Amino acid sequence: MHGTVEISGSKNAALPIMAAALLTDEPCVIRRVPDLSDTRFMVKILQSLGASASLEHGTLRVHAKKIKGYADYDLVRKMRGSICIAGPLLGRLRKARISLPGGCIIGARPINLHLKGFAALGAKIKIEGGYVDARARKIVGSSMFLGGRAGPTVLGTANIMMAAALGEGMTVIESAACEPEVVDLANFLIAMGAQISGAGSPTITITGVKKLHGAEHEVIPDRIETATFAIAAAATNGEITIKGARAEHLRAVLDKLQEANVIVERRGTDLRVKRRGKLKPADITTLPYSGFPTDVQAQMMSLLTLAPGISIITERIFESRFMHVSELARLGADIEIEGPSAIVKGGKPLSGAPVMASDLRASAALVIAGLAATGSTQVNRIYHLDRGYENMDLKLHKLGARIQRVQET
Ligand code: EPU
Repeated sequence: MHGTVEISGSKNAALPIMAAALLTDEPCVIRRVPDLSDTRFMVKILQSLGASASLEHGTLRVHAKKIKGYADYDLVRKMRGSICIAGPLLGRLRKARISLPGGCIIGARPINLHLKGFAALGAKIKIEGGYVDARARKIVGSSMFLGGRAGPTVLGTANIMMAAALGEGMTVIESAACEPEVVDLANFLIAMGAQISGAGSPTITITGVKKLHGAEHEVIPDRIETATFAIAAAATNGEITIKGARAEHLRAVLDKLQEANVIVERRGTDLRVKRRGKLKPADITTLPYSGFPTDVQAQMMSLLTLAPGISIITERIFESRFMHVSELARLGADIEIEGPSAIVKGGKPLSGAPVMASDLRASAALVIAGLAATGSTQVNRIYHLDRGYENMDLKLHKLGARIQRVQET
């Protein structure tokens, strides 16, 4: 792979920011929203709540003049990230009724921490018929600890920030998620008139205001997409330039790439990626930010199957995020799962085969492995890929990858 690729806006920053537009009855404009099935889906959810919303050429215009506090099961169940409408609904309407999102292929995905936070803000929570019903006479600021069994929660932190932004008094979130997507949301809320400090650190303070106003915002570049392209270039022994990335959001990934013998040079907002020579094994443990992101674990595993030697990859965020392992084995990879760890015996040649995508990042891992394998690989169920990567096939094609979208079978 050779050439230049432009990074899109971050899916995981865009989703809660889109939901945050529900907090005001004034129009909001959000730029660099990636065109994905997940963001299109969020547009539908906003519309179903009564907002006018349109997404064209990366610009989302939302006007939530009058909204209802009820989100339909059929809409919410299809996208787990839609839980982030609960905070804005509770903040603005003092009530939110939302279908409980189920688990998903990567793990159980409970929302107990979101509910703990809402309760701390004074909401009464009822769970009935698969719905969670949160109601509050008023949102009262309070101090809460939001750490869970796997550390902080990203969308839980987002939900509490959004509900508390329109509350009374001061809310302090301890063990808040520090992800750049949380900071981006805080910046949008601040642009809307919210009083928030500490976003990006484990303690976030929100002082409630009576009203938020319309605002404009540009979403940060997608750090997971950046990492995915860097890994794809390394896996194919290519040399690419990634434009518009934020290297400071990717320290852990860049560090591990370096350990694997991949050079990533920063040139302003561009990243230049190439291999130093033979790939080397690396041990990885996924952790909350600023640790190695779980959303890059599968792609990195594909890369490490090509590195002669043993790499141990430990998944600490989602308990069953190893669905790609058996599909990588179909390409010839030698990987064993031992509890939360995958032991990758790298260096065996990969050869193309039909494989099945199980979730978004697993799909990206299979594409990367397919590009590095001899022969051709058919990745089925690529609707998973379209949930989170904007034009991935076209971007890879432009970099010289031999990749083609064919009809879903
Ligand atoms: N958790 C709880 N209780 C809760 C919430 C979470 O125990 O109430 C646990 C989860 O089960 C998990 C850990 O806490 O073990 C972290 O989950 P978190 O709540 O942070 O995940 P999320 O906010 O639902 C976001 C991203 C995910 C990403 C995770 C972790 C969005 C829309 N989703 O999910 O992105 O993996 O943070 O960084 O922002 C992806 O893009 O492929 C993806 C899955």
